[in-house]
Amino acid sequence: MGFEDALSSGRQGSRYHDIFHLSNPIISTMPPSADIVRDLHKYEYTILYAIERLMKRYRWVPFDDLKRITRLSKNELEYRLGELMEKDLISYNAVPYPGYGLVFAGYDCLALHTLAGRKTISALGSLIGVGKESEVYEALGLGVIVLKFHRVGQHSFQSVRLKRDYMTDNSHCPWIFASTLSAEQEYEALLRLTGKVRVPVPIDRSRNTIAISYIPGVNLNQCTLADPRPVYEELISEMQKTYSMGIIHADFSEYNVMVNEDHCWIIDWPQWVECSHPNADELLRRDIETIVTFFNRKYRMGINPDDALSAITG
Ligand SMILES: Nc1ncnc2c1ncn2[C@@H]1O[C@H](COP(=O)(O)OP(=O)(O)OP(=O)(O)O)[C@@H](O)[C@H]1O
Ligand SMILES: [Mg+2]
Repeated sequence: MGFEDALSSGRQGSRYHDIFHLSNPIISTMPPSADIVRDLHKYEYTILYAIERLMKRYRWVPFDDLKRITRLSKNELEYRLGELMEKDLISYNAVPYPGYGLVFAGYDCLALHTLAGRKTISALGSLIGVGKESEVYEALGLGVIVLKFHRVGQHSFQSVRLKRDYMTDNSHCPWIFASTLSAEQEYEALLRLTGKVRVPVPIDRSRNTIAISYIPGVNLNQCTLADPRPVYEELISEMQKTYSMGIIHADFSEYNVMVNEDHCWIIDWPQWVECSHPNADELLRRDIETIVTFFNRKYRMGINPDDALSAITG
């Protein structure tokens, strides 16, 4: 489906912002609004890509390096850098030396540009979920899909650093590295599990952003089930299949399960571990206790977590 088709069909016209052809009001939340992604001048893209490249070497990219790499004139470069700052895609830092760096919106912009270039997406829809370390949007691809922008380091970089082992890299920009790694890890889990366990289907990935299938359900914590037993049993069966494939979710809870009348799905996989991980037993037990506690509290089901553990590990 092309952009025009998607927008003129009337089906989703008001909810989607065409990345290349239509205008929409600038939304202050990240990622950048579709019109910014669509209207960015080619020199502005050249600069964003150059800053991304040079941030492997510098925390703040000096003007002279940018000038050399982009081959833009001094005036043009100054003007375009001003435009990018105006659009909140990069930031300027004066100390310890003057330089420019990407911010999340600029990095998202590159991801959206890449995904649109590959025709994975044609339009960006509305925000459907905000987590501690991500923002989740509807988008149009071959039908409605979901974009999850990973944002590790946005709020609590210190605790993330303690919790996860991504930070061993000497990256000049740890949030780019951590957010991209988080997206890669989630994508890898989905690739391994899709077709075998009920998870969103992985479609594409660029940088910190994954494109996945839309799950037609609601979060388990947000609904009241008329008959909770079959849902609980299906979840244990999905966890058992996951475990038999050598994977533990490691952040399993009612918040990361989506349900509808027919099925349930397990979402939110960036922190998964292999069953061989040194803390695997503890993480699996915590996953099980979390979900059993939820069903016992909300639905008074009287489940014994040890029985659930045996059902999963066999
Ligand atoms: N594939 C999907 N289809 C439909 N909705 C989704 C999908 N993926 C995520 N969502 C919605 O977005 C919310 C946030 O997604 P997710 O749990 O993956 O991110 P998160 O940042 O890790 O959240 P948290 O840190 O709070 O657990 C979900 O609770 C769900 O409501
Ligand atoms: Mg979640």
